[in-house]
Amino acid sequence: MLPTAKRLNDVKEYYFSIKLREVRSLIDQGKPIINLGIGSPDLSPPETVINALKNADTHGYQSYQGLPELRKAIASFYQKHYGVDLSFENQILPLMGSKEGIMHISMAYLNAGDEVLIPNPGYPTYSSVTNLLEATPVYYDLTETGNWFPNLEELAKKDLTKVKIMWINYPHMPTGAIATTEQFERLIAFAKKHQLLLVNDNPYSFVLNDNPQSILSIKGAKDVALELNSLSKSFNMAGWRVGMVLGAEANIKTVLQVKSNMDSGMFFGIQKGAIAALNMSQSWFEKMNTVYSKRREIVWQIYDTLHCTYDKKSVGLFVWGKIPKQQTSEALTDKLLYDYNVFLTPGTVFGSNGEGYIRLSLCTPVEKLKEVLTRVSN
Ligand SMILES: Cc1ncc(COP(=O)(O)O)c(C=O)c1O
Repeated sequence: MLPTAKRLNDVKEYYFSIKLREVRSLIDQGKPIINLGIGSPDLSPPETVINALKNADTHGYQSYQGLPELRKAIASFYQKHYGVDLSFENQILPLMGSKEGIMHISMAYLNAGDEVLIPNPGYPTYSSVTNLLEATPVYYDLTETGNWFPNLEELAKKDLTKVKIMWINYPHMPTGAIATTEQFERLIAFAKKHQLLLVNDNPYSFVLNDNPQSILSIKGAKDVALELNSLSKSFNMAGWRVGMVLGAEANIKTVLQVKSNMDSGMFFGIQKGAIAALNMSQSWFEKMNTVYSKRREIVWQIYDTLHCTYDKKSVGLFVWGKIPKQQTSEALTDKLLYDYNVFLTPGTVFGSNGEGYIRLSLCTPVEKLKEVLTRVSN
């Protein structure tokens, strides 16, 4: 067999890609599996978004930078919801999802052997992309006792000279923790001091969160930080693949240098749909969050039944639960899958600090969540 590239040595197939095959085979055997693992919104996007796509009649290649109208809509969205001023001309780059942005940014700045600060627990793509580029992940601990915020004093004691990028993700997935303004300020000061690019991955700020925040609203942020954002969770458009990267002109230009060599623009109709989404009023989020908060009530009851603890103040599309001490995350997950036909995510998927936790998604209707509650209560 043709030997594969060296860069694949440290990259495994994505956890969900493997596990969902197992879940699929159980479903094929007739098991009534309820999937609480994946964060793909089951609710529909706004109707105006779908109509905008339907009415689109242009099928050619599109600009690498996206329609100016889309970048203007992103700029107004950032002004309206986060109080951040951005130039639509050079501080905004639409992406095909924020996941792709993690690759673009990494390709733009990392050489083999560079180091990257990555949260543990955290979104697995930060480390897989780092490994794909033959750079080295350096994990920083997030713990419940530390309110899921890094101990920057401890981190500063390490040799950080090879670190180029620090990934942060507030509101944090999987824990649902948010960062305060003061914490963002400390992160920016840290990035300045250690001369690294700080990237806040921010796809969850509108889900069950009263105070959406962008790191770019902090004074001096654009000097050292980029932000990724996405329509996947805010507008139930995960399959549409619309994200964005925002920050200083020089950084955006560098990311475009990579991206313009990777794709040939976003389909016109999708951009039109994205514009319609970004123009939605506040009541869209209120409506969406009413649904999620009802679901979360049941998820809390499921956790109570499983003797798990959780933080009622956490935000986002998932609820992070601490499991009883005598169990491991994967053993409990497998027990729930095989004994109760319920699929959820073991915390270890997100790193070693996820041991002792599980993650439940809110992308399932109340009736199904009640069915899960009934199953685990028996
Ligand atoms: C923390 C985090 N970042 C990025 C993404 C990717 O989102 P998108 O659909 O915009 O690529 C996800 C999706 O699950 C996520 O949880």
